[in-house]
Amino acid sequence: MIHKSSTVSVPAVTDVPRHIAIIMDGNGRWAAQRKLPRVAGHVKGVEAVRAIVEGCARRGVEFLTLFAFSSENWRRPEDEVSFLMRLFGATLQRETARLHKNGIRLRVVGDLSAFDAHLRALVKRGEIRTAHNTRMTLTIAANYGGRWDILHAISELPARSAVDGHAVPVDEASFAQYLAMAYAPEPDLLIRTGGEQRISNFLLWQLAYTELYFTDIFWPDFDDAALDAALASYRARERRFGRANA
Ligand code: IPE
Ligand code: IPE
Ligand code: MG
Repeated sequence: MIHKSSTVSVPAVTDVPRHIAIIMDGNGRWAAQRKLPRVAGHVKGVEAVRAIVEGCARRGVEFLTLFAFSSENWRRPEDEVSFLMRLFGATLQRETARLHKNGIRLRVVGDLSAFDAHLRALVKRGEIRTAHNTRMTLTIAANYGGRWDILHAISELPARSAVDGHAVPVDEASFAQYLAMAYAPEPDLLIRTGGEQRISNFLLWQLAYTELYFTDIFWPDFDDAALDAALASYRARERRFGRANA
């Protein structure tokens, strides 16, 4: 299915966002606050993921997209990076059955060529096993960067065919189908935990008209009540998409 571009046509607005994207930030500071090593925050963060996946599915969210590792996170100390990779693998191994049982389809987006073969196989296995589930699509962005996504899409565009000597123009819809998340509508709501108010190279193209919600809560503490607060903020907004207000 090709989803409409929010800048080409105004999408329907529903009380519950169809697609929520989350920048799960603040694991390190959560741990530091407790005098624990940063990686303890990442472990605790996985528990928060489990609860929020269920919470979103229960509320009727169709797509949940979680930023787990950015294309810039390789700049972290090697031991933290390798811990995160192992944690990702172990979580996939442990959680895929639960996702499947709960009717959730798993997708992983990002440049997976940087991951080892074992991790790539776990990703593939999880995606294949859950491919036909329809309750909610959970996308994990791993080694993902918004600029990588756009450049990758450009590289996948079919070589422009010349018609009457003129190059065939690319429009938004034809371009967007080469983005990593072509299967999903653009996010309605972006949540960033941890207090920073920036996009950090997440879904650059897709966030054009997304409602942004920033909270100081560290990701490991982001629970059902915090999700409800974000959803209440979302419901109170008037999404104009460039139109005059109602
Ligand atoms: C987010 O938490 C998790 C990843 C980026 C992998 P951080 O690790 O960035 O936590 P802070 O921002 O240092 O507190
Ligand atoms: C964004 O968090 C990436 C993820 C949550 C995976 P960062 O902690 O890497 O972002 P910056 O460095 O503070 O912008
Ligand atoms: Mg951070």
